[in-house]
Amino acid sequence: MNLLKKTDHNAMYLFAGVLGMFLIGGVMTTIVPALTEKSWRQETKGTRPYTAAQKRGKAIYKREGCWYCHTQQVRTLEADRATTRSGWRGVKAPISTPGEYVRDKPHMLGTRRIGPDLARVGGKYDRSWHRTHFMNPRHLVPGSVMPPFPWLVKRDGGKEFEDLVEYIQTLGRTINWRPDNDYER
Ligand code: HEC
Repeated sequence: MNLLKKTDHNAMYLFAGVLGMFLIGGVMTTIVPALTEKSWRQETKGTRPYTAAQKRGKAIYKREGCWYCHTQQVRTLEADRATTRSGWRGVKAPISTPGEYVRDKPHMLGTRRIGPDLARVGGKYDRSWHRTHFMNPRHLVPGSVMPPFPWLVKRDGGKEFEDLVEYIQTLGRTINWRPDNDYER
């Protein structure tokens, strides 16, 4: 009772109380789940270490800023799963699970979706599609706002392009959810 009265007369008590509540909320929603939820650190069955080429491809993905426009996460929202963009021929894209990202350091989850989500794009298109798309996305998708990346295809006889495609084809392929359309190497 005494304490309650004090908070009425002294803003510092009120401030400390608010801060305390905020801290408890923060710890309970960010730190405690990470410590108690063990499944987060268990990798999904089928996860493989990146090959040297895939690692180089991921570095290019990072360097070129693909993640400014693309996310890599199928959220629980119906809008994410049901879209033909993420799914394939009526098969809905499975929701992303933490175990699929265990080997991703740093992860490329992304925050903005100027372009479509790429979490399940592996195997959706073949190499020649990607080549044309990187040369100029508007050749395939009229009105696309994705910038052309011709240097990836041209530089070093297309070595960077090969590496990047190796990486892209791994995306979302830990789970074999779209078996009819495995890409051809
Ligand atoms: C300025 C934003 C922007 C940047 C940067 C960007 N993209 Fe895109 N991307 C888009 C948009 C918009 C689309 C949808 C239209 C299209 O397919 O061209 C797209 C489509 C794609 C698709 C086809 C996805 C699908 O499901 O059809 C792939 C693959 C892709 N981008 C890969 C990349 C890669 C790899 C990079 C980095 C080298 C990159 N993008 C950089 C905006 C961007």
